[in-house]
Amino acid sequence: MLFCSDNPFTELPEVLGRCEQLDMVGFKSCRIEHVPAAALPPRLRWLILTDNRIEQLPPEIGRCSRLQKLALAGNRLQALPVELAACQNLELLRISANRLTELPGWLLELPRLTWLACAGNPCCADQEQATLTHSPITTIDWNSLQLEQILGQGASGVIHLARQRLDGETRPVAVKLFKSAMTSDGLPESEMAACLAGGEHEYLIPVLGRIEAHPQAVQGLVMALVGPEFSSLAAPPSLESCTRDIYPADSRWSPEQALKLASGMASALAHLHARDVLHGDFYGHNILHDGSGQALLGDFGAATLLSAMPRELAEALQKLELRAFGCLLEELIERIVPAEIVDPRLAGLAALRDACLDPLPARRPDLQAVITALMPLRARPH
Ligand SMILES: Nc1ncnc2c1ncn2[C@@H]1O[C@H](COP(=O)(O)OP(=O)(O)O)[C@@H](O)[C@H]1O
Ligand SMILES: [Mg+2]
Repeated sequence: MLFCSDNPFTELPEVLGRCEQLDMVGFKSCRIEHVPAAALPPRLRWLILTDNRIEQLPPEIGRCSRLQKLALAGNRLQALPVELAACQNLELLRISANRLTELPGWLLELPRLTWLACAGNPCCADQEQATLTHSPITTIDWNSLQLEQILGQGASGVIHLARQRLDGETRPVAVKLFKSAMTSDGLPESEMAACLAGGEHEYLIPVLGRIEAHPQAVQGLVMALVGPEFSSLAAPPSLESCTRDIYPADSRWSPEQALKLASGMASALAHLHARDVLHGDFYGHNILHDGSGQALLGDFGAATLLSAMPRELAEALQKLELRAFGCLLEELIERIVPAEIVDPRLAGLAALRDACLDPLPARRPDLQAVITALMPLRARPH
């Protein structure tokens, strides 16, 4: 692997293409304008070109058949080369904050594409602006917040415990401060628009407002504090696992707990999809749970608003997220105990997993169908 972030490269070096074993390349926040075909290593699996000046990708990217993760947020792309359709292993794609006027049909047919972020492009930016202006998010004065310890962090932000002074009293809250204007998932504005559009739901982490008057103009969100009895379901993917989360070695679920968690998350996603929000980062590492199956989905950093898009396109995009739900089911099923006892509920869950992972996105169920399939599994006596 090679990481060269924050260096003044204007071109992806051609020498990389001659590195036979190189599978991970990161050039975040450089000044890259040109990606020569010769610079693409044959075994490329993970390419990070976030926050550069790239206007087009070489068609030869289609030869990178092992490509699984492609991070292109914050560039100047007006289109993606159709040859990318040959990258059948592509699972995670970040193309937020570019100049894309439309999403090509072939992209939505990729058999394994699961996590897509495309906010902040002309194809959806108007909608974001409209959401932000028509339902402005509550603003919370930075000076009313007193930051305490760090609760967690991800690619885009650092989350602190904080006290908010409100009407003469203080309440504990969680504050997410964005690390920079451009994150690997996109822009903070897009995250805020998606939070607003997503609204409230029993299984979503509640967002209270957006920070204003930070002395260095750092952007941030204030959320309801999720109690210490909740922890992340999993850690983000490792360099090795690339696209899949890392679960604690002792993570185990009873069928009841797994079904409760799956049902809660299906209902949160159904709520988002009904409101034309694609989460884009539906992963165990963005789910907080209390060990009993009670869970909350957070992190709208990679979310995309779909309301400005034609219905068919929006529905096709949602089918990508069904695959993410299938991955979660797969991960839960692997950890259900006792696995050796024949439990008809496990067979039902496995069938649902397979349907969600169908390589033909159009054949995957929608979330209402998922909820309907989960209901009898939860009700069934055992
Ligand atoms: N409202 C909250 N209350 C308590 N902890 C939180 C809250 N929101 C986030 N966290 C912690 O911070 C971590 C990262 O939050 P997330 O929103 O996913 O940030 P990022 O966008 O940087 O990935 C979470 O996994 C969790 O541990
Ligand atoms: Mg996160």
